[in-house]
Amino acid sequence: MSYELIIVLDFGGQYNQLIARRVREANVYAEVMHFDTPIDEIIAKKPKGIIFTGGPSVVYEDDAPKVDPEIFELGIPILGICYGSQLMGYTLGGEVAKATQREYGKTDMTVETSHSLFKDVSKNTVAWMSHTYYVSNPPEGFTVTASTDSCPVAAMANEVKKLYAVQFHPEVNHTPEGQKMLENFLINICKCKQDWVMTDFAQEQIAKLKDQIGNKKVLLALSGGVDSSVAAVLIHRAVGKQLTCIFVDHGLLRKNEGDDVERIFGEEFDMNIIRVNCEDQFLGKLAGVDDPERKRKIIGEEFIRVFEAEAKKIGTVDFLVQGTIYPDVIESGTKNAAVIKSHHNVGGLPDHVDFKEIIEPLRDLFKDEVRNVGRAVDIPEFLVSRQPFPGPGLAIRVIGAITKDKLDILRDADYIFREEVKKAGIAKGLGQYFAVLTNLRSVGVMGDERTYDYTVALRSVDTSDFMTADWSRIPYDVLAKVSNRIVNEVNHVNRICYDITSKPPATIEWE
Ligand code: XMP
Repeated sequence: MSYELIIVLDFGGQYNQLIARRVREANVYAEVMHFDTPIDEIIAKKPKGIIFTGGPSVVYEDDAPKVDPEIFELGIPILGICYGSQLMGYTLGGEVAKATQREYGKTDMTVETSHSLFKDVSKNTVAWMSHTYYVSNPPEGFTVTASTDSCPVAAMANEVKKLYAVQFHPEVNHTPEGQKMLENFLINICKCKQDWVMTDFAQEQIAKLKDQIGNKKVLLALSGGVDSSVAAVLIHRAVGKQLTCIFVDHGLLRKNEGDDVERIFGEEFDMNIIRVNCEDQFLGKLAGVDDPERKRKIIGEEFIRVFEAEAKKIGTVDFLVQGTIYPDVIESGTKNAAVIKSHHNVGGLPDHVDFKEIIEPLRDLFKDEVRNVGRAVDIPEFLVSRQPFPGPGLAIRVIGAITKDKLDILRDADYIFREEVKKAGIAKGLGQYFAVLTNLRSVGVMGDERTYDYTVALRSVDTSDFMTADWSRIPYDVLAKVSNRIVNEVNHVNRICYDITSKPPATIEWE
């Protein structure tokens, strides 16, 4: 590896990848490694610094994750966060105590601005706390560098040994000056040069994939979405035509989408791509089905069946690629969360495809990072910046039972909406925007004629994580233009509504 590395040592907290991402945002490469990675392996990677993450454990419990104390003697700067801070305190002879009450949420904090970690940070700042245990007495050689009312050692440091610890979470947005603190660690303390860019990641991934794959065969399900497209291009760059992409066109895509995918990846990128047109098969299975979860299930199962049948024709492959990205990993890991909607493209693997190993080249990246990798490997901007599109496609945007005619109406209406948003130059600010064909018909008048036609709903949301969302305040004149154009240009639509509900209580999609 030619660039500088920060190792994020994972103690099981929920923000581990987020820490790595914040480091990468500062143009320093970060990699998450398991807490029990042997120390020799850590040394061999020559990290410029190490960050211990938070975690749910209590340091004095027997099964709590620990580190080899030698790690503190390597001279490599270490920043301990939350559990990581307690582990540092405890291992080096300090005391960790249980608070009478869990400290949770935004907390006023006073910092010693003369300390390198808090350079240019306001003396009175705000930190996000989420802990029950805390360092009550720092180890010898440490000084207290920040405190809150209920946490006397909100931060501590041993500048000589380059050991730093914070009880709060600098990586989350709720700590407004957190990024500055992390950058202080990276730049002032670890002396990182901040010269890492996504292009390096892409090049490194390509080199790794080349090594891993050798002259073997790889199979990938290409959807034309950002994740599978970026994964495909990385692998194609590594092993060219050893990669076969299967593109299952289920007939539920947006206008022109299927042809675009075929043209861009098949012709422009010159990839081995098999487009399977199976609209009839999918629509046949979906005929008369109006329950959204049934639709998803049918599409998910049918998709796998088609994919398996195509894969069988190719024969045994060595690797199957999954375009999994980090948020998918978290989402499918939350075992206790209620199933609101089953997202079929997460975790669903074909049972009967003959492959030996799975490759997930984007597993550690967040969506916007994946987009940047896409840009680094020259995927056209319109594809890279594409809004999310659900696996079941327009099937969950035609409310109730699906027919080809309804899909065509929706495709045309949706195309107009997207076109006008683009023309108005407001696309970048919108999280996701699309049209929905409701199953409501109502009376209208066109020319001198009475009509009895469909209502199209427009949906647009502002969101950063798609878990919660607010409806977008699209300017009225844009909405007016879209409404006019749809009723004039799309047959069988005579009424347009704009959805003004947030999530919760509504969801982003209508089904
Ligand atoms: P909801 O409707 O749950 O959507 O607020 C949140 C995000 O998930 C997408 N979504 C899906 N994606 N398969 C997918 O791949 C699905 O079945 C599915 N349902 C919703 C939705 O487009 C939004 O981005």
